[in-house]
Amino acid sequence: PVSVYPDEHIASKTVAARIATLIKKKQEKGESAVLGLATGATPVEIYEELVRLHKEEGLSFQNVITFNLDEYYPMQPDAKQSYVRFMDENLFNHIDIKRENIHIPDGTLAKEDVANYCIEYENKIGELGGLDLQVLGIGRTGHIGFNEPGSAPNSGTRLVTLDDLTRRDASRDFGGKENVPTKAITMGIGTIFKAREIILMAWSRKKAPIIRKAVEGEISGNVPATYLQLSENVEFILDEDAASELT
Ligand code: F6R
Repeated sequence: PVSVYPDEHIASKTVAARIATLIKKKQEKGESAVLGLATGATPVEIYEELVRLHKEEGLSFQNVITFNLDEYYPMQPDAKQSYVRFMDENLFNHIDIKRENIHIPDGTLAKEDVANYCIEYENKIGELGGLDLQVLGIGRTGHIGFNEPGSAPNSGTRLVTLDDLTRRDASRDFGGKENVPTKAITMGIGTIFKAREIILMAWSRKKAPIIRKAVEGEISGNVPATYLQLSENVEFILDEDAASELT
């Protein structure tokens, strides 16, 4: 299903409220909530709202376990562009989540250790009962996580090469495209698909053409997000601008 909201602020609050409800429901049952998280501009206000719910309304993250979608490779956690730093600054430093419950792909691994690490990342999600909810943004290439065009629908966590357009879109954060890493570690399309609930969000006109393809286009590896059309657990949450090219 596709839900269109007047603007990204209202949409973000709605998604944050859904996450909060999930966390509380699990709390009542004495269970953990396993969340798949994204970085980038899209979820920033969701995290802001979750921080507010924690500080002003007592929402606790003690029972929350998180797995981030991706990290650049190579990447030092304390670098300005690292997704570790992004998550700390936008969410984790401001809530009561247990540090040991946070998982973000490790951008510091030696090349020969990456493959095993990816299998372990995948296994850990499985051992914890799988992702209850995965939130996604979408790149202009149609990537989800860093699953660029050509990604297989059953792909797992792995090392990938970033698309040129993705590196161009990231160039401002890195002060030039030449400084953007060429690779990343990402959960796969298959990993994302196993989540019990998937929410893909997009705001602004810049995303309208790719949203049209993702929601209405032919299902194809050329636009990885089109694979989401095959899942019954997906909701596209859009602002009016991102939805503006849907027929
Ligand atoms: C980030 C991620 C990416 C972004 C996408 C959109 O963890 O997996 O797929 O969601 O590149 O980025 P923004 O939100 O910055 O437009």
